[in-house]
Amino acid sequence: MKNYVALALAAPALVAAQQSLWGQCGGIGWTGATNCVAGAACSTLNPYYAQCLSAAGQATTTRSTTPATTPATTPATTTAATTLRTTTTPSGPVGTGLDSLIKAKGKKYVGFCADAGTLSNSQNAAILKTEAGQLTPENSMKWESLSPNSQGSYNWGNADQLVAFAEANGKILRGHTFIWHQQIPQWLKNINNKATLTTAIQTHIAAVMGRYKGKIYAWDVANEVFEDSGARRSSVFSNVFGDWTFLDVAFNAARAADPAAKLCLNDYNLDYSSAKLTNFVDLVKTLKARGVPVDCVGSQSHLVVGNGAIPSYKSTLDTLATTNTEVQITELDIRTSASPSSSQISQQVTDYKTVVSGCMKTAACSGITVWGVSDKDSWVPSTFSGQGYALIWDNNFNKKSAYQGFVDGINS
Ligand code: G3I
Repeated sequence: MKNYVALALAAPALVAAQQSLWGQCGGIGWTGATNCVAGAACSTLNPYYAQCLSAAGQATTTRSTTPATTPATTPATTTAATTLRTTTTPSGPVGTGLDSLIKAKGKKYVGFCADAGTLSNSQNAAILKTEAGQLTPENSMKWESLSPNSQGSYNWGNADQLVAFAEANGKILRGHTFIWHQQIPQWLKNINNKATLTTAIQTHIAAVMGRYKGKIYAWDVANEVFEDSGARRSSVFSNVFGDWTFLDVAFNAARAADPAAKLCLNDYNLDYSSAKLTNFVDLVKTLKARGVPVDCVGSQSHLVVGNGAIPSYKSTLDTLATTNTEVQITELDIRTSASPSSSQISQQVTDYKTVVSGCMKTAACSGITVWGVSDKDSWVPSTFSGQGYALIWDNNFNKKSAYQGFVDGINS
């Protein structure tokens, strides 16, 4: 392993010359590599973004400086510098569990949400080291967590801790989130004029993305901007602007702050054909058409076991892919009753397989984030009374049968 580390460190020019699968390879303002590794071709998605996509139409594992015979379980120190998007992305061992399995099938990552609290549990941390290739801050990068008291004053501690854990263990990161109607500070909610709010959005995004520049693969620049009806959601942002242009401000600020990061619009309940899904897709197309840099869409996927929409999950991903952006499953969990019946448990296995399989069979789908490791730390029981059991490790960190459903989905 040491030799591979030395090779990766000693050959930055080689790494910079070719962009990895899924990496950016062109677009307005892009100054990085414009060639892709073998098996991938540089495709222009919009004037601002060209991306290395599998030449075969379906992602394949491509490791330019790694011998072709390298087994799928090769430690990431052989691959990190070549498969990650930026030269400053952390290197280190890739997980040997779900993340390795999905990478071997050509996808970018399996990830989990985490934060200082759950990282402090050694069982949780051990699972993340083995199973995850990507981490998303569950709460620590939300506006209220970072800047609760006044504009320009920041608490970086918990977010820094997650980033340090990711760097030390070779995980990429998704950033979550800037524009959201929840978990934003009161001082921000009090702003009632457009110029002041514009500056607040721009300075916050510059501060946070600047601090973590080059370390975060993709950002949920905006989250849950639609009501379930498909209407624009009421928030300080939509109310003060009176239209969607708060998104222009946010995405443009994000692009300026870290040009290499992928910029996502994220939402929930996109899992079935609905006005919300239609309007979400239309909005992304409209934003892109007027030059707003949207690179990815996130489908949270907080699902209910046995829901009639799950069998058509792949067709929903296909609809999301019509935005010509990278599609990411960002917050997956599948809840049952708190004490599930045997039929719910077996249905959950099927449902995890269906969702994961949907991503595997959709070229635009790059990776899957599960919203937590253990059922004991899931947000579900405190939000939905009498429901739970939504994740793939139980309260005692034992793998559940749902884990096998996930594996079967990867192998489908
Ligand atoms: O940090 C405070 C702590 O100081 C206080 O003592 C404690 C008392 O309740 O609350 C703590 O804050 C909690 C926070 O999580 C951090 O643990 C909030 O009450 C709690 O509401 C918050 O819940 C989070 C929720 O977002 C907020 O809406 C969940 O952990 C988190 O899993 C959940 O994640 C969201 C995604 O960001 C967006 N999509 C939906 C998803 C599920 O709601």
